[in-house]
Amino acid sequence: MSGALLERDIPTWLAARPYLDVRSNDEHTLISYQLARALLKLRPEVDEATVLTAILFHDVGWKMVPVEKLADSVGPKPKYPELQRVHEVEGVAIARPHLQALAILGVDVETVLSIIDGHDTRKQAISPEDEIVKEADKLWRFTSHGVKTICGWFGTPPKETVAMLEDFVLPQMLTKDGRAMAEALVAQGQAMAWLDDMTTLEGQR
Ligand SMILES: [Fe+2]
Ligand SMILES: [Fe+2]
Repeated sequence: MSGALLERDIPTWLAARPYLDVRSNDEHTLISYQLARALLKLRPEVDEATVLTAILFHDVGWKMVPVEKLADSVGPKPKYPELQRVHEVEGVAIARPHLQALAILGVDVETVLSIIDGHDTRKQAISPEDEIVKEADKLWRFTSHGVKTICGWFGTPPKETVAMLEDFVLPQMLTKDGRAMAEALVAQGQAMAWLDDMTTLEGQR
């Protein structure tokens, strides 16, 4: 069934899930997982198991950040920018024993941990696998779930949120594939925001 996890990844998801019940990270993770699979189709030489394992565990560290500081730790002007790094370090600490216990065939634990360790603060990729994780993670922001979630974090309307993503996140995409997917999602987000505005205006008539 498309949209589902690969059988190999189900135990990994079940191990990560208890840490993903903050800031919609469970949905973010599952959407990023499918975006990574879409990117992997275009790059068959990249190691799928490493990418998907890293995606499932990449944001578990947010669980250790105080809930009231979550919204202020990301975005163009974060109040607590240091929490970006904290969630990576905590993520590695949480993921390590789980990955060791899972012992996924063909997956090197230290390779996955090194991807988690710099998934947000390290701007350049250290491997093709890292590159796909970074792209899939960022691409989520452009999806309808991403836009809706970010609108809630910053209290911004969809039109402004999509414009912010186009100005600040789109230029950070690392690959031609990632950029093309982001452009397509921006186009969809702009159309949805415009429809939203039109419906509101019509309701005021
Ligand atoms: Fe993250
Ligand atoms: Fe993420």
